[in-house]
Amino acid sequence: MSVRITALVSLLLTAACSEQTGPLTAGSTLDQILGRNSAEQIVRNFDPEQMARGQALFRKNCAVCHGRNAEGTPDWRKPLENGRYPPPPLNGTAHAWHHSTEELKNFILNGGPPGEGRMPGWAGILKDQEIDDILVWIKSLWPDEVYQGWYTRIENRPK
Ligand code: HEC
Repeated sequence: MSVRITALVSLLLTAACSEQTGPLTAGSTLDQILGRNSAEQIVRNFDPEQMARGQALFRKNCAVCHGRNAEGTPDWRKPLENGRYPPPPLNGTAHAWHHSTEELKNFILNGGPPGEGRMPGWAGILKDQEIDDILVWIKSLWPDEVYQGWYTRIENRPK
């Protein structure tokens, strides 16, 4: 059983990273995909001040592309005429939650893969602490079941 779950999760991660996510949505079939019982609750004890700082930093630096509430572009799955992808939602409805905090942080520091996207890198512009603050705010937007799936299967996945 656990082998099957691992295979499914890595399939999901591969799909996420290939930019061809198809019909996968973050919330709808999460329990089935992860073979998880949604009864277990993981509580987010985020510091409200850190969340407020993250929100302000996000709105100043990121909202121009990702939207004021990180809702992204409606057609984020469809490549643009130039073959590049529009900014995805970061609010738990796309696949930002398929990545660990470390992976998200590195992505934000370095930007999108060369030639593929338009996500700029923020190294030297935002401080480490500021990126941490933004990530806490982003995670605070994720629906409970998305956060729980991320926490148990992605952030704390067996190494
Ligand atoms: C100029 C537009 C633009 C700005 C500004 C921008 N992004 Fe992005 N972002 C993108 C695009 C486009 C992508 C999709 C990947 C790519 O094409 O590089 C993306 C992808 C991402 C992802 C990966 C999402 C996933 O589903 O894996 C994260 C996380 C992210 N951005 C965070 C941020 C944060 C935090 C900021 C502000 C500090 C920011 N972005 C500012 C355009 C932008």
